[in-house]
Amino acid sequence: MEFQKVRSVRGEVTIPGDKSISHRAVMFGALAEGTTEVTNFLQGADCLSTIDCFRKLGINIENTPERIIIKGRGLHGLQAPSDILDCGNSGTTTRLISGILSGQSFTTTLTGDASIQKRPMRRIIEPLSMMGADIQSVHGNDCAPLTIKGSSLHGIHYNSKVASAQVKSAILLAGLYADGPTSVTEPAISRNHSEIMLKNFGAELSVQNETVTILPQPALHGQKICVPGDISSAAYFIAAGLLVPGAEILIRNVGINPTRNGILKVARAMGGKIALLNENHEGEPTADLLVKHSSLHGTIIEGDLIPTLIDELPVIAVMAACAEGTTIIRDASELRVKESNRIDVMVENLTAMGVKVEGTEDGMIITGGSPLHGAVIDSKADHRIAMSFAVASLIADGNTEITGAECVNISYPAFYEDLNRLSIR
Ligand code: S3P
Repeated sequence: MEFQKVRSVRGEVTIPGDKSISHRAVMFGALAEGTTEVTNFLQGADCLSTIDCFRKLGINIENTPERIIIKGRGLHGLQAPSDILDCGNSGTTTRLISGILSGQSFTTTLTGDASIQKRPMRRIIEPLSMMGADIQSVHGNDCAPLTIKGSSLHGIHYNSKVASAQVKSAILLAGLYADGPTSVTEPAISRNHSEIMLKNFGAELSVQNETVTILPQPALHGQKICVPGDISSAAYFIAAGLLVPGAEILIRNVGINPTRNGILKVARAMGGKIALLNENHEGEPTADLLVKHSSLHGTIIEGDLIPTLIDELPVIAVMAACAEGTTIIRDASELRVKESNRIDVMVENLTAMGVKVEGTEDGMIITGGSPLHGAVIDSKADHRIAMSFAVASLIADGNTEITGAECVNISYPAFYEDLNRLSIR
């Protein structure tokens, strides 16, 4: 797909529903008694993979453009699937469903696309096995396909080596089926959507600093859930608004949960002008974001901030490329095990656009300020890479061609239409 420099970007955009919250709404709705109704569900390929898996597990799910209706069958109501579960490109589906399947009375095999089959699953196999789960990596490489034989599970206390909401959530979901309390301690707090939503469904769950504890065998009750807009999708419009001369963008209904909003902190630390309007703090907090073109300067991004902006680091790297001075990203080795190796892929593609950037083991060092020029960008079928370089193309001289650009259907199917609508040529 071809992209050109724009004169400016202006207008309003309403961001589609949050991917993490959409997945969880389907999963927890399936395990609850009664009906769960979800509005503003993200109709992206990843969340559709979750729906497909739960339908194969015997759950009736109605999917209309207005709402998703999930007919929950209770904690013990899933049925043995007659087929392999296909998690597509979705790490969240693969890891969270593994926690649930560990506690069932049947055996399941799950797999996904080429990217999923390379992503590390040891991080869930280890704690779930400690709980008594029987999980085999079919090819013996600690990746999917996985065969999960449901077992009786024991409560554990697990000290996770990675700050990962997928690992934390997989353990908490297995904890629903355990014989005693299950707790997880993380090195830094990762997104807490599971904790918030499980509590709303009626789970007994407590949080103390970096430790979450869940009690087993709760009665979960169907809920009405309105999914906030995904800050990870809003990130591309935040960056476009900050970087393009004369830009002003109003981004409506964005989730600003503190475990997700690191991009707002970093953008402001870089000198970005972002105003929060219409804040709403009932349940998952939301706001409208008013973003204006700003002259940015470099910053350091590290430590506990990293899990709060992990999916935004590719587009933050684009912001850094346009900022005066040096930006250092560290403590982010998790980027190497996402849908692509996002450190290597960002370095390769930013370099192609004329940016001075060096990859490190756990991040990047980006020297900003030189003009970007168009290039051929290989997205490696990674949605966040494609969207990051679509933003970069708005300010790059000449043509940019992004290969595999259609991968945005994973998290934001209408991304190019929305970006195009705001673009002034
Ligand atoms: C997610 C957690 C994060 C994030 C991913 C979605 C989730 O992954 O990168 O896009 O929904 O729990 P990790 O748990 O691997 O950090």
